[in-house]
Amino acid sequence: MNNITIAVDGPAGAGKSTIAKIIAKKLKINYIDTGAMYRAFTYLIVSKNIDFNNKIEIQRELKNVKIEFLNNHIYLNDKIVDSEIRTDIVNKNVSNIAKLDYVREHLVNLQKIIAQKGNTIMDGRDIGTNVIPDAKYKFFITASLAERGKRRHKQLIKTANDISLSQTIKSIEKRDIIDATRQVSPLIKAHDAIEIDTTNKTIDDTVEIILNYIREGGN
Ligand code: DC
Repeated sequence: MNNITIAVDGPAGAGKSTIAKIIAKKLKINYIDTGAMYRAFTYLIVSKNIDFNNKIEIQRELKNVKIEFLNNHIYLNDKIVDSEIRTDIVNKNVSNIAKLDYVREHLVNLQKIIAQKGNTIMDGRDIGTNVIPDAKYKFFITASLAERGKRRHKQLIKTANDISLSQTIKSIEKRDIIDATRQVSPLIKAHDAIEIDTTNKTIDDTVEIILNYIREGGN
């Protein structure tokens, strides 16, 4: 398949990245997890103890930071941070960093450059609306809050995070509200995106729906 660009958006825990990763493998295209970029930058700010209101310091970090994807790993200043960006402290703070307009501007520019190379499936919150509005395929993946909480909790306990299901649900709900109500490019379905509710669907079901749609050329 020639130069295909796919945008996948939706709230936390809906299964976007799991699904996007499988599709990337099947179609032999690149997978870019834009949430991981916001997470990596949040990890940097949190580990340097920088106050979220300190615009000057955050802008300085932004100017010097190097965030890259290589061989399915996320690199922050040349160091792999795959597990560091999935910790509870990053989960709790990432939406507050991701809502800063100057942080978004910087990371969105980076994402646009990556997307321009083509053959990419990118997931996030504003991919279809803002990062690649001209993507050939756009999907908006949702699931009920309870189901998303369950899925995220399963992931979190694997990495030895000591967190209860109800705490996980609360934390997701909080993030949903910040992501959907922020002023700059909030989480919102693009008017031309296909919405898929995965609450009662397996990962394979959803992957199949998306692949069928792409095979049919989006009709
Ligand atoms: O998809 P995720 O849970 O890893 O995303 C982490 C956070 O990053 C999420 O709370 C909102 C933010 N984000 C964003 O604002 N825009 C994106 N394109 C991707 C993620």
